[in-house]
Amino acid sequence: MITKIILAKNATASISSIIFGSNKNLDAYNFNEKELKYILSEKENDKKITVINHFDKQYYIINNSEEQDFENIQKTRVLGSNIMSEINKNKNTEIDFIDFSENETIASAFIEGLALSNYQFSKYFSKEDERRHTLETINVVSKNINLKETENLNSLIEGVYLARDLSNEPYSALNSVQLSKIFIKKGKEADLNVEILNKKQIETLKMGGLLAVNKGSAIEPTFSIIEWKPENHKNEKPYILVGKGIVFDSGGYSIKPTPNSMDLMKHDMAGAASVFSAMYVIAKQKLPIHVIALIPATDNAVDAKSYVPGDIIKMHNGLNVEVLNTDAEGRLILADALSYAKKYNPQLVIDIATLTGAQVVAIGHQGTAILSNADEQTKNLLKESGNNVFERLVELPLWEEYGELIKSSIADIKNIGGSEAGTITAGKFLEKFTDYPWAHLDIAGPSIYKKQENYVTEGASGVGVRLFADFFKKISF
Ligand code: BES
Ligand code: MG
Ligand code: ZN
Repeated sequence: MITKIILAKNATASISSIIFGSNKNLDAYNFNEKELKYILSEKENDKKITVINHFDKQYYIINNSEEQDFENIQKTRVLGSNIMSEINKNKNTEIDFIDFSENETIASAFIEGLALSNYQFSKYFSKEDERRHTLETINVVSKNINLKETENLNSLIEGVYLARDLSNEPYSALNSVQLSKIFIKKGKEADLNVEILNKKQIETLKMGGLLAVNKGSAIEPTFSIIEWKPENHKNEKPYILVGKGIVFDSGGYSIKPTPNSMDLMKHDMAGAASVFSAMYVIAKQKLPIHVIALIPATDNAVDAKSYVPGDIIKMHNGLNVEVLNTDAEGRLILADALSYAKKYNPQLVIDIATLTGAQVVAIGHQGTAILSNADEQTKNLLKESGNNVFERLVELPLWEEYGELIKSSIADIKNIGGSEAGTITAGKFLEKFTDYPWAHLDIAGPSIYKKQENYVTEGASGVGVRLFADFFKKISF
């Protein structure tokens, strides 16, 4: 269930309240003297959350700095998620957020953290009481936050929930064709233009990477093209997002071990999930920008028909690739999409993918690797968005010398490097298929949380959605 954020004129006497902001006036709440003393002493002890329980109704009094630097904004999101356990304990279904703060940024961050931590992937629990979260609605009473802002917050939360839902869904319920059907359905809701290319069309386009990975599959590949082009778009050339849509990655003949590896690989379409969900948010928020998303999708299966190590495949751009590891499949399907993107003469192409285990080794789940040939200004805008939404970007180089590692002795390139710099050699591989400003985001680590951390719930994180939403908002105004 999506947490609803509703703009309210007044507080409702009967429901529990979060009292937020340093300017709060507590006279209106009928606290007795003892309670007021307690609230004061909590504040002096630097307690961030004070709970006053009036039996039928709880007050959550928040003490928080209103500094607007990105670190404090993040602390505020975390604070929002910290009151979830109290809300659940008290079984609140609806809550008033009464905002006495000076600016909407800090208040929105608190609401965002609260709503994001309220996510739960609960559809496969057969008993209703397995749902741990009780909260359904947040009523916002604020002089700074307006209707547009609550609507934007709602679509953002909806987008992150959607990305988490898609990525948490097992392969048995979400293969490449089923994924494309969700794009059509959810795309209609948001007024997006959605076109799905089927296997025949993919063959006509000679997308040899996507077709090779799909060879062992019982399900046809899909190539989804999703477009948002409002009349008032500001950019001349389109922005393009590319998402890796491997709906399950067994590794193929270069098969993966199960624990902590293949058992996570339903998430190998997290890039696709965040690209589509970001498009959903951009469209719902009606951003004046022209953006196109390209999503190649298939599973990577073991079968008598599967591609095998040693195969040489011809890609969409004509390059011949020697496949030395069938588990390096993501770069093959992305490369076809990156090559296809050339026809749009794009302003900037950003791909996002659960691409390498090496990214997890280098950075873990606390950050995303960015590799890019774009100018410093563009890269800085992306990194700034990474800080704003606290999905931080760490840059790795695309130095020429790394290109040596993917040279093949019998074909144009090979699909793996050596034992060193695995995230970079994957980036160097992709670079071969671009001829425009481009950024590659490797989210192998931050896309999957083994356990909840603040407002990022267990399983799929939805990383990328808020990053793209922030980036496109910034450049479209
Ligand atoms: N989907 C995996 C990468 C991955 C690892 C995602 C861990 C999420 C968590 C990707 O397709 C893969 O298997 N990469 C290989 C490449 C190697 C064979 C060059 C890897 O990183 O081991
Ligand atoms: Mg793989
Ligand atoms: Zn993969």
